[in-house]
Amino acid sequence: MHRSFLHLLIIWITFWPFSVSAEQPSRAAIATAHPLATQSGMEILEQGGNAFDAAVAITAVLAVVEPYSSGLGGGGLWLLHRATDGKQVMIDGRETAPGSASAMLYLEKNGEVKKELSLNGPLAAGIPGVPAGLVYLNEHYGRMMLAQNLAPAIRYAREGFQVTELYRKLAGFRLDVLRASKDAAAIFLHENEVPPSGHLIVQKDLANSLIRISEHGAPGFYIGELANRLIDDVRKNGGVWRSDDLAGYKIVERQPIITQYRDIRVISAPPPSSGGIVLGQALNILQNFNLERLDNITRKHVIIEAMRRAFRDRAAYLGDSDFIEIPVERLLDQDYSEGLAASIELDRSTSSEELGVFPVAEQTGTHTTHFSILDTEGNRVAATLSINLPFGSGFVPSGTGVLLNDEMDDFAIKPMQPNAYGLVGDEANRIEPRKRPLSSMTPTFLETGDHVAILGTSGGSRIISTVLLGVLDFADGNLPKSWVSIPRYHHQYLPDEVQFEQNGLTAIEQAGLRELGHTLSEKDRAYGNMQAILWWKKKNLVYAASDPRGEGEAVTSAIRPHR
Ligand code: DON
Repeated sequence: MHRSFLHLLIIWITFWPFSVSAEQPSRAAIATAHPLATQSGMEILEQGGNAFDAAVAITAVLAVVEPYSSGLGGGGLWLLHRATDGKQVMIDGRETAPGSASAMLYLEKNGEVKKELSLNGPLAAGIPGVPAGLVYLNEHYGRMMLAQNLAPAIRYAREGFQVTELYRKLAGFRLDVLRASKDAAAIFLHENEVPPSGHLIVQKDLANSLIRISEHGAPGFYIGELANRLIDDVRKNGGVWRSDDLAGYKIVERQPIITQYRDIRVISAPPPSSGGIVLGQALNILQNFNLERLDNITRKHVIIEAMRRAFRDRAAYLGDSDFIEIPVERLLDQDYSEGLAASIELDRSTSSEELGVFPVAEQTGTHTTHFSILDTEGNRVAATLSINLPFGSGFVPSGTGVLLNDEMDDFAIKPMQPNAYGLVGDEANRIEPRKRPLSSMTPTFLETGDHVAILGTSGGSRIISTVLLGVLDFADGNLPKSWVSIPRYHHQYLPDEVQFEQNGLTAIEQAGLRELGHTLSEKDRAYGNMQAILWWKKKNLVYAASDPRGEGEAVTSAIRPHR
């Protein structure tokens, strides 16, 4: 090697990390599903916190002000990028099955499914991961005190937040379940009815539970007085939690799934989420087509067929990788995707039956939450949090203020038995003690030489296709405002139909897709709630957008975190 070149190389290697961290965004950006969460995140950045501190504050505030979406009684996946060393990791705070849970938990002796029990009441609840996630994020990545990061949430729990139209709609959807829990009804309803808009929801018990965590860390939730209260009331009401389930809960750091779509590096959620693999596989398939050259209907047809194939493999292979072998490399292999792409015919739909078939039912209404953060050091967070259905299981253990999830329904409670989102699964996602149910949450980063994007959404099984459409819109050169707004359509292999939100496909597109053999199913409303950020590095511009379908807020600000 030429000496001066070698010399240059050594200089480059020595200063490389420095030159990476010198590339900093001109503005910080936060997009969340609730204005109070966005404002609390900014408050923490102004106090000197970094994106990870803001993520702690936002997670906790959402637990208070969006009780229908996420909470201390639920789980979350936080995808992180740390600017100082470029570390990218997913903090897995997904719920786990209780130790005594088995594949028979929701089945009668004759094999019939006891459906209600995986959705409503304490038997539906997995062991929560959010409390441990808050503490873990704070300890390992934040720079502020936990109490400081939890302060905004404690404030809103004590002082109350106002009921919105979205709250009313979702509380109405879960009214019976909320009425069935004494504490849930007292906190989330008004005189046992959906509260009026503007009504103040005050959560004194939840404030105390948050204070306990801020004072004692994770043990404040998982061991001792609060844990005992949770367990006592869960068990009194038909649940199966034990103290070792809570005491044994562990956060896991996982390597993200990284795939390449054209010049875009896609960094997304690994198992126990299906998000990164299904997204990566769909993009790998689409890489074999020149999407720009296809007419509008053929383009949509090809995207739908890619979704169908990726979701088929989800049903067959995906679950908690701590319990099962997942053939990740094969699923994301270019040759494998080429084969799948070759099976797509441009002039007709493939029926899911041709790919192998399982029985399925319809979906129900849903909610969950996503937020995206970029700080001016270049740290990033994409986090999706859930308690599954709106207001989770609807059950609040007495005196705790903690609304429990119904995430156990994300397991295949019986092989090929559709869950609340119509998703099917098999052995890979069967219930086992301490196992994490398969998720669709897809917090994602996109990177090109010039751009960094941070995005994700709620939407149950449709999360993955919503993110996919966002990625393709990014690839087309559009900005976050467009990714969060574009009309949405979805295929998940089974049921064998193209689902689309209200006005998601034009009449001409519908006719064209029918002509190709697709069965269409229009949903009676819009779905998803995407929160997205783009940092255009070359021009050092930062954009943020919140889905117009939701009530969220996206802001950018020139705040510089203190060191
Ligand atoms: O983890 C999952 O895939 C589901 N529990 C997410 C639920 C959801 O997105 C509901 N939202 N609209």
